[in-house]
Amino acid sequence: MIFEQIAVGGDRNFGYLVGDEESKKALLVDPSYNQKKVLSLVSDHGLEVVYVANTHGHYDHSKLSKRIASATGAQVVAHVCSAARGQLGVDDGHVLQVGSLQVKVIHTPGHTADSICLLAEDKLISGDTLFVGKVGGTDFGAGARAEYESLFGKLLKLDEAVEVWPGHDYGVRPSSTIGEERRENPFLLCGSFEEFVDLKRNWTQYKREHGIK
Ligand SMILES: [Fe+2]
Repeated sequence: MIFEQIAVGGDRNFGYLVGDEESKKALLVDPSYNQKKVLSLVSDHGLEVVYVANTHGHYDHSKLSKRIASATGAQVVAHVCSAARGQLGVDDGHVLQVGSLQVKVIHTPGHTADSICLLAEDKLISGDTLFVGKVGGTDFGAGARAEYESLFGKLLKLDEAVEVWPGHDYGVRPSSTIGEERRENPFLLCGSFEEFVDLKRNWTQYKREHGIK
């Protein structure tokens, strides 16, 4: 599998290129801000983009998807609750076939209702659901409950060795693993939903006390 993390700009946004070496078919994820950089990487690898996926609808991730999809003849993929007409709406468990590569969709509401993570072999593209050492949800009510379920009920059920590739470079390193996040991410060390929400409410103070940037 060809796998590239692309620092596209914006707010330290990451896009991703996932390619099947044999068929040369590829998937782009959140390729925003820098169409030239993204497409030159695609051509460096000699790939044909078949899907452009949005991990969620926020503009900093999705703003170039339509344009890059038309430029490459690919189809835009988004969660069913936000997919526009002509786009492929996917839900939890959907498998995107990229040549011989199977990319699994995991619906992870919380940061937004339409958030999805994409699992390609041992690599999880986690969007704004899970960052290195942080999480992406900003809600304290129903959204936080959904986020908690997505993190604990879905992502932490993955194998410890699965690599985590986030939507922003907000951590101490650009990628991590489920095992490292389980052991080090303060939000994933919470023993209950109440503790989780408490940490979210007191995050600024927690960061200051623990020297987290
Ligand atoms: Fe976002």
